[in-house]
Amino acid sequence: MRQAGRSLPEYREIRANVAMLESCRRPELVAEITLQPVRRHGVDAAILFSDIVVPVAAAGVDLDIVPGTGPVVAEPVRDRADVERIRPITVEDVSYVDEAVRLLVAELGETPLIGFAGAPFTLASYLVEGGPSRTHAKTKALMYGDPELWHALCGRLAEVTLAFLRVQIAAGVSAVQLFDSWAGALSEADYRRYVQPHSAMVLAGLADAGVPRIHFGVGTAELLTAMGEAGADVVGVDWRTPLDVATKRIGPDRAVQGNLDPCVLFAPWPVVEAEVRRILDEGRAAPGHVFNLGHGVLPETDPDVLTRVVALVHEVSARPVD
Ligand code: CP3
Repeated sequence: MRQAGRSLPEYREIRANVAMLESCRRPELVAEITLQPVRRHGVDAAILFSDIVVPVAAAGVDLDIVPGTGPVVAEPVRDRADVERIRPITVEDVSYVDEAVRLLVAELGETPLIGFAGAPFTLASYLVEGGPSRTHAKTKALMYGDPELWHALCGRLAEVTLAFLRVQIAAGVSAVQLFDSWAGALSEADYRRYVQPHSAMVLAGLADAGVPRIHFGVGTAELLTAMGEAGADVVGVDWRTPLDVATKRIGPDRAVQGNLDPCVLFAPWPVVEAEVRRILDEGRAAPGHVFNLGHGVLPETDPDVLTRVVALVHEVSARPVD
C-alpha cells in the first residue's frame, strides 16, 4: 500500500533532499526505498516505489507531487487538444522503472515484487480536477456533460497504464496492482458505464502475461462485483466491508486482499491483535486472501506495530485450518 515506507525513519532520511517525482526516476534510490519495508518488517512481497502519476508525467503531462497534498497538474484537461497531448509511452519513456525493477528482482531473490499503476478513472480525476478532490465534481461534470471526450480521455489513460504495466512485467514483477482509489465516488451504474470498460481494457491486456492482477479501490462496497468483473484475479477491499461479505459479492473465482483499517494501528495492541485475527478468520471465506491494510499506511504509524502485525499474520496463517 502507498506510503508503507513513510512511517520509517530510514525512508524520511533517504528522501530528505529529493523531491518525490525525482526519487521515482533514480533506479538505485527506488530499489533501496522498495527494500526498506521488506528488511524491516519481513513482509511476503515488496511493492515497487513509484507513483500512479509517474507514467502520466512520462506521457507529457506537466505535473508534480506536492508534499502533504498529492499530485498537482499544471494545466487540467478541458478539451480534445488536452487529451491529444497525452502521448503513448514506450519503455524508453520510463527506462528508470524498467531498470529499477530489474535491480530489485535480482536483489529480492525469492520475495516477489508487486508492480502497479493507476486506473483510468483515478488518473482522470487528478488530470481533470488539477489535484486531489473530495467530490470529483469537475470529473463528473466532464463525464456526464461530454461522454465522448470522457471516453477519449480514459481510453488514452488506459493505453498509458497498460504500456506502463507491460514494462514492469517484462522487467520481472510477479504481480500487478491496478489502483482505482477514487472509484468509490461513483454509483455502480455509472461505474459500469463510464469506467469499467477502460479498466477492463487494461486488465484484459495483461491476461496473457501470466501474473496475478489485483484491483483495488476505496469505499467500493457497492462496486466489488463490478470491479471483479473488470477482470481482476484479486479484488482489494477497504476496511468497511468484512471479507466474508465481500467475497459473496465478488464470487468464488477471485481472491480478496485487505483489509485492516490503517487507523487501528494506533489502538492498543490487544485491539490490533483482535482485528488482525478477525480479518484472517473472515478471509477464510474467500478462495484466497492476501492480508493487507484496507488503505495506505499513515505516516505517523509506529513501524514496530507494523512489524508485529506481520509476525502475527505469519504465525496465525502458518497454522493449518480445519
Ligand atoms: O508505499 C509505497 O511507497 C508504495 C509506492 C506508492 C506510492 N504511491 C508512493 C508515494 C504507491 C503504490 C502509490 C500509489 C498511489 N499514489 C495511489 C493509489 C493507492 C492509494 O493509496 O490509494 C494514489 C491515489 C496516489 C496519489 C498520491 N501520491 C497521493 C494521494 C499521495 C500522498 C500525498 C501526501 O503527501 O499525503 C502521493 C504521494 C506519495 N506517493 C508518497 C509516497 C511514498 C508520499 C510522498 C512523501 O514521502 O512525501
